[in-house]
Amino acid sequence: MRRVLIAGNWKMNGSLVGNQSLLEEIGRGSSTIAEVDWVVLAPSIYLPQVQQLLNSSHCAWGGQDVSNQASGAFTGEISAKMFKEFGCRYVIVGHSERRTLHNESNELVAQKAKQALSVGLIPIVCVGETLQEREESRTMTVIEAQLQAVNSCLEENLAKVVLAYEPIWAIGTGRSASPFQAQEVHGAIRTWIRNHRGTLAEQIQILYGGSVKPNNAADLLQLTDVDGALVGGASLNAEEFLGIGRSVSHFLTKI
Ligand code: PGA
Repeated sequence: MRRVLIAGNWKMNGSLVGNQSLLEEIGRGSSTIAEVDWVVLAPSIYLPQVQQLLNSSHCAWGGQDVSNQASGAFTGEISAKMFKEFGCRYVIVGHSERRTLHNESNELVAQKAKQALSVGLIPIVCVGETLQEREESRTMTVIEAQLQAVNSCLEENLAKVVLAYEPIWAIGTGRSASPFQAQEVHGAIRTWIRNHRGTLAEQIQILYGGSVKPNNAADLLQLTDVDGALVGGASLNAEEFLGIGRSVSHFLTKI
């Protein structure tokens, strides 16, 4: 059974003062919408604050990136084990902003996912195409290469990751994928996993990300192969973030 997961990616936003009220509201609100699972993915430096304020809530927390190395001379990097020390449950890997702005390859993203799993963190592995790739009908070629790298690095452990399909043209643009476009790709991703890993495909949560708001969440999340949302902008406002979960809490689990 696949539960619905609502994940808030704060990106490089927040402040000690602002986080306090946001987290208090999310902590309270998420506990009243316990039919879905919640996670806040905050800038790493705020994770002690996030841990303190969400500790007794229904909302988990995590980071936005993780090193592909376990420890050592990697200035500026944060290891999977360090995230675990602050109670993190999830970490994003391969967000398109990191793939693009930091030149992260499919192989590096796969290694990061492996590091996360090695300490029991759940990697949220992002995949997705640019507008140009979509227009050139290369959406699934691009995504399959992203999936293949993770599949060959993780093998059977692929079942332990959460995938997030984020069409890059839909991120932060206010233009989400249509339900048809989303289901088409989510279905194709699940079929690809079924072809490579058999029944593991039925266990894997596949989130949709890209301009998810309370007013489009229900249409997207009721799709057969969409098991939750990775939310950027709307996760910075407690009412909007909670509204996304509230709008979908009536259809609960998939399969
Ligand atoms: P958005 O961001 O909801 O602001 O489009 C999604 C993401 O980048 O994860």
